[in-house]
Amino acid sequence: MDLSQYGPWAFIAGGSEGVGASFARLLAASGVNLVIAARKPEPIAALAAGLRGEFGVEVRELAINLCAPDMLEQVQQATHDIEIGMLICNAGAENSLTPFLERKPGRAEMLIALNVTAPTQLTYHFGTGMRERGRGGIIIVGSNSCHTGAPRQVVYSAAKAYQFNFAEGLWAELRPHNVHVLGLILGLTNTPNLARTGYKPDPAAGLIMAEPKDVAQQGLDQLGHEPIHCIGGWTDRWRQLRGLPRGEAMAMIG
Ligand SMILES: NC(=O)c1ccc[n+]([C@@H]2O[C@H](COP(=O)([O-])OP(=O)(O)OC[C@H]3O[C@@H](n4cnc5c(N)ncnc54)[C@H](OP(=O)(O)O)[C@@H]3O)[C@@H](O)[C@H]2O)c1
Repeated sequence: MDLSQYGPWAFIAGGSEGVGASFARLLAASGVNLVIAARKPEPIAALAAGLRGEFGVEVRELAINLCAPDMLEQVQQATHDIEIGMLICNAGAENSLTPFLERKPGRAEMLIALNVTAPTQLTYHFGTGMRERGRGGIIIVGSNSCHTGAPRQVVYSAAKAYQFNFAEGLWAELRPHNVHVLGLILGLTNTPNLARTGYKPDPAAGLIMAEPKDVAQQGLDQLGHEPIHCIGGWTDRWRQLRGLPRGEAMAMIG
C-alpha cells in the first residue's frame, strides 16, 4: 500500500491497542513514522518497540489524557518539530449503558471532550499544515450509535453524530486541497476495550464482530473516496435508517 501521501509522520489519538494499534502497524509497514498517544505508557512503549524493531520507523510515545484541558499544548510540545501528514482520532468508546440522569457528574463532559473537543482541536491544529502542504489524511473513528439517539448512551450517540457530520463537512472542504477525510463508522469490533467490559454478543442476534486489523485496513483503503464508510455492510442499512420514522429507526439500532 502506498501511503506516502500521508507521511512522513502520523498522529494516532488512542493508538496503543485495538483499531488504533492496527492503524499504527499498517502505517509503520508503509514506512510512515508515528506518534502514538494514549493514557497508559506501558502499552504504548511495548507497541512502539515492536514497530521500531520490525519496520525501522521512528515512533514517539505520548502518554496523555485526551480529555485534559491542556491536551493541545501537550500535543504541540511533542510534535512541533515534525510534519504530521495523517491524523487518526480513534479513542472514544463508551463502556457503560446508563441513563443520562443516573450518570456520575462529569461523565458526559468527558465523553464530549474525547469525541468532540479533542478531534476538533487536533484536526484544526494538524489540518492547517496539511492544507498548506496540499496533501494529508484525517480519519475520525465513529460508531453506528451515531445514526439515531440511543437510550442509555445518550451523550455517546450525540457525540458520535457530531463526528459523522464533522467528517462529512471536512471531506468537502479539504478535498480541493488534496487532504482526504474519512468518517469510519464501526459496529461491534473485537477490541481489548470491548473485551474488558465483559460484553459477549448474543449469537441469536446475528451480530458480526469485526476484527481491528480488518477495520483499519478498510479505513486506509476507503480514505480518499466517499466521506463516510460504515464497516460490515452498514452503509446500506444507514441509508435505509434515514428513510424511516425516527422511532422505527431507533428500534432497529437498539
Ligand atoms: N469496540 C467496539 O465495539 C466499537 C463499536 C463502535 C465504535 N467504536 C469506536 O471505535 C473507537 C475505538 O474503540 P475501542 O473499543 O478500541 O476503545 P477506546 O477506549 O475508544 O480506544 C482505545 C484506545 O484509546 C486510548 N484512550 C481511551 N481513552 C483515552 C483518553 N481519555 N485519552 C487518551 N487515550 C485514550 C486507549 O489507551 P488508554 O486506555 O491507555 O488511554 C487505547 O489506545 C472508539 O472511537 C469507539 O467509539 C468501537
